[in-house]
Amino acid sequence: MEKINIRRAVISDLPYLYEICLKTGDAGKDASDMFFDPYMMGQYYAAPYLVYPEGICFVAEHTHRPQGYILAVPDTINFRRWMEEQWLPPIRKRYAQPLPPELLRSEKEKRYIDIFHKSLLPIDLTAQPWLTDYPAHLHIDFLPSIQRKGIGRILIDTIFNELIQKKTPGIHLDVGSSNPGAIAFYNKTGFSTIKEHEWGLTMGKKLLH
Ligand SMILES: CC(C)(COP(=O)(O)OP(=O)(O)OC[C@H]1O[C@@H](n2cnc3c(N)ncnc32)[C@H](O)[C@@H]1OP(=O)(O)O)[C@@H](O)C(=O)NCCC(=O)NCCS
Repeated sequence: MEKINIRRAVISDLPYLYEICLKTGDAGKDASDMFFDPYMMGQYYAAPYLVYPEGICFVAEHTHRPQGYILAVPDTINFRRWMEEQWLPPIRKRYAQPLPPELLRSEKEKRYIDIFHKSLLPIDLTAQPWLTDYPAHLHIDFLPSIQRKGIGRILIDTIFNELIQKKTPGIHLDVGSSNPGAIAFYNKTGFSTIKEHEWGLTMGKKLLH
């Protein structure tokens, strides 16, 4: 099998990030049929991480193109401030109007417009106390062609090491209960549940002793 190459992501990887985000966007499965606008998911969950100055992003390349990514930020509160100040204002203008009902492909697509318009500030630390002990967060998504080959573990360890160098005390992530494979993966890579929600779990991993 052709080698899988891991490298730091660069800005010209953006189209691949949008594509991978969409193709893994339905609890790890392809969400293409759920979106009229194929870029909508990546506008929130992938692209800003690569543009954010403090973002830590790697891609896994296979057969000459990125087929997976890990995207992390060391401080979720600062990231949310940047999202509110820099990233979301033009997105909110771009998606100012709801899509006409005849174009909308799914309830999920409709919900994204609401997500774009929902303010990320102020941050309520009583509702999300884990932001203190686990200030970093991440997203990881691979196309099926490179899943279950040990690359996820390598990329998670890479992010842990980068964050330890920055003295980041911990990292968290959200995962839906409809994605048991991802929950199994996070348990295997050192995460444990810090909060159960009706939609899934917030999981965390402490990085400094
Ligand atoms: C979840 C994902 C990131 C895991 O990465 P991966 O490269 O496939 O995982 P690895 O091969 O590194 O596996 C690491 C460990 O997790 C386990 N694991 C990985 N995927 C699993 C699954 N679907 N079910 C059960 N265990 C799984 C492996 O068995 C392995 O355990 P071991 O070391 O004891 O053998 C990847 O499969 C993926 O991108 N899936 C689709 C998108 C997605 O669901 N992203 C998460 C959204 S929250």
